[in-house]
Amino acid sequence: MYKIVQRTEFWLTRSNITKKQKIQVIGASDSVMSDSRQKEPEQGHDRLVHIGELTSRITHDMRNPLTVIINYSTMIQKNSKNKLDKKSLEQLALIENEARKMYRQIEDVLNYVKLPPLKLQNHSLHDILKKVIENIQTADDVEIQIPKTNPQIICDIDKLEIVFVNLITNAVEAISGEGSITINAKTTPDDVIIEIEDSGPGIAEEDLAKVFEPLFTTKQSGTGLGLSSCKNIIERHRGTISVKNNPTTFTIKLPRRESTV
Ligand SMILES: Nc1ncnc2c1ncn2[C@@H]1O[C@H](COP(=O)(O)OP(=O)(O)OP(=O)(O)O)[C@@H](O)[C@H]1O
Ligand SMILES: [Mg+2]
Repeated sequence: MYKIVQRTEFWLTRSNITKKQKIQVIGASDSVMSDSRQKEPEQGHDRLVHIGELTSRITHDMRNPLTVIINYSTMIQKNSKNKLDKKSLEQLALIENEARKMYRQIEDVLNYVKLPPLKLQNHSLHDILKKVIENIQTADDVEIQIPKTNPQIICDIDKLEIVFVNLITNAVEAISGEGSITINAKTTPDDVIIEIEDSGPGIAEEDLAKVFEPLFTTKQSGTGLGLSSCKNIIERHRGTISVKNNPTTFTIKLPRRESTV
């Protein structure tokens, strides 16, 4: 059984990350910890790779039961609108929301530890955004405007959906109430440029440079992996992602010609 015995810090270098990043590993067993303390740094690194693989396997296997929870709680809400009392319906909505949140966090962890090759294909931006917005939980008082232009994007659609889900969810969480998210798109001879702007309070100036770092979060229940996953995905498409304030705007630049890292 796994239990939290100690928080240990490792230095991990990943091929797709240029600088060394500090990863906190929690949840290893006693024997794992005592072993790694005695071994050479390279064996410690191997152990970290194993922990990565184990994490990836567990999180991967958790997706199926979560999908069942999400699908059935959605279905019961739809089919039982007139049969269930208001409180029960609210509780079902809560189950669905929390399960969706967990699913997204699992996707972030998987995306961080696993790097399968990209499956590049041509997709229209509207199609990608419509699918993402349909599946995202937004309060009725957040208005999402999709771009007037509809450029074609060469991308791995599953990965790009993760990027938009993360950016839109962050915007919704920042707005926390009434507000708007505006998505604009334009093309240059070489790139497609997509901007996601929100009417939220913005990012503290001292945090602007940190938001793409793994595990950076200002939220109580955040993993801080959302934006770092976005950056990984965009960079693997040979693109860039950046952020600025006033209004909070995330800008994605993707090459119009097929190429990956
Ligand atoms: N649109 C936004 N407006 C204001 N702050 C933002 C916005 N997007 C991101 N941030 C800030 O960047 C931090 C990192 O975001 P990231 O998505 O990586 O992690 P998270 O949202 O905190 O947690 P997770 O996505 O794992 O649930 C957030 O905690 C928040 O402080
Ligand atoms: Mg997030």
